[in-house]
Amino acid sequence: MNKLAQQFMGWVDERFPATKLYKEHLSEYYAPKNFNFWYFFGSFALLVLVIQIVTGIFLVMHYKPDASLNASGIPVAFASVEYIMRDVPGGWIIRYMHSTGASAFFIVVYLHMFRGMLYGSYRKPRELIWLFGVAIFLCLMGEAFFGYLLPWGQMSGWGAQVIVNLFDAIPLIGKELSLLIRGDYVVGDATLNRFFSFHVIAIPLVLIGLVAAHIIALHEVGSNNPDGVEIKKLKDDNGIPLDGIPFHPYYTVKDIFGAAIFLLIFSAIIFFMPEGGGYFLEYNNFVPYDQLKTPPHIAPVWYFTPYYSILRATTSDFMIWLALLVASVGTLTFLTARNNIVRIAAAVVALVLIVGFFALDAKVWGVVMMGGSVMLFALLPWLDQSPVKSIRYKGTLFKTILAIWVVCFLILGYLGVQPPSPVGKVVSQICSLLYLAFFAFMPWYTRMDKTLPVPERVTFE
Ligand code: HEM
Repeated sequence: MNKLAQQFMGWVDERFPATKLYKEHLSEYYAPKNFNFWYFFGSFALLVLVIQIVTGIFLVMHYKPDASLNASGIPVAFASVEYIMRDVPGGWIIRYMHSTGASAFFIVVYLHMFRGMLYGSYRKPRELIWLFGVAIFLCLMGEAFFGYLLPWGQMSGWGAQVIVNLFDAIPLIGKELSLLIRGDYVVGDATLNRFFSFHVIAIPLVLIGLVAAHIIALHEVGSNNPDGVEIKKLKDDNGIPLDGIPFHPYYTVKDIFGAAIFLLIFSAIIFFMPEGGGYFLEYNNFVPYDQLKTPPHIAPVWYFTPYYSILRATTSDFMIWLALLVASVGTLTFLTARNNIVRIAAAVVALVLIVGFFALDAKVWGVVMMGGSVMLFALLPWLDQSPVKSIRYKGTLFKTILAIWVVCFLILGYLGVQPPSPVGKVVSQICSLLYLAFFAFMPWYTRMDKTLPVPERVTFE
């Protein structure tokens, strides 16, 4: 650094801790030297977040959240998106970057979460990183749901109608709540305006705050790695972890390379298949929303479909299976818990749930199961009782159960985009049960699993 630059940085540092922050988070943040492919996805998620915010800013300059009809009888909101696509210079690429970015966000975040499950990154001392992550995931789902209404196509309107109507099922307050969310008795202009407000300001603000908290928590405890070995346990005389390397330049260069490949694939989708075969942008959404014409098949976008399948699978004939699952978990807890309070609580909760399954409408439980299947991720740090963190040292039992869970998740996702069918219903019920059982029985099978010895230091070739 030349003298002038040094003087300038000295002036800044006396007023703002720029050099201190740079050292703490980049040049002197020691990350394990054995990061692999799976460790790209956190930085890709940051990249997509920036893409969504920047393209979103430009879209808002031309988009109009207005459900009234223009002189040609087309809803103003729908027409404003067409105007962006056809008349605004570069508008089409900004819009396709944003719509492809939404799906890319979920692909990247699902892989990022799965990495956490593979290497036990949610385990002590990283529980808060994980919980901030789950909160980010919930916000992301809200953000995508609110955003999907804005183009005011058939799927926007009818998709929102189906999901908001689910709140009707909540006892006592359901009807009032769905009315409050919609702002009207049907999805209309009031709904569009409030969803717009949530999509462009409320949720992004929370999301950015949560991502900051996520990274601060990560840098407080340090990164996990594919071996699940804590690198801070072995340090040299200067207090630097023996298996750590400075994030900058090693991982900044690695991540820039990864980002280049990611952007190549991202661009290929934007230029050659922006609708993603009807999965990224549904074909029915190129038709303006009409409250009087229900499309024959309403399906949410692909990233919601595993949970949507669980919702559809929860019919009255499914309650007996749910009751059996709860009864077995309750009995196991009662028999194996050492603390008496836990044993009694388990018995009471199981009993209340089982009575509830038959006393309340299955529709209510469908909504509970759908929400619960997402919320279960938050419990992983406490459900996983394995003595080892990483899949590398876990036994065949855990690996098999995880593989079955992944297959069920994918099947549920696939069935969620298909129209309902008798076979699909049975398959989705089996998969939903296995999906829930993966979490419900985790404390027991992770203890039974035959694990391998974990090395002192990370493995690196
Ligand atoms: C906007 C979304 C997200 C962004 C921008 C983001 C960003 C990051 C970054 C940059 C890292 C460090 C690099 C890496 O380990 O890959 C990281 C680590 C981590 N993230 Fe996320 N994340 C997001 C969502 C999530 C979600 C939804 C979860 C889980 C539910 C999650 C759980 C974790 C965990 C456990 C780590 C530590 C991993 C380890 O050290 O092995 N993140 N995140």
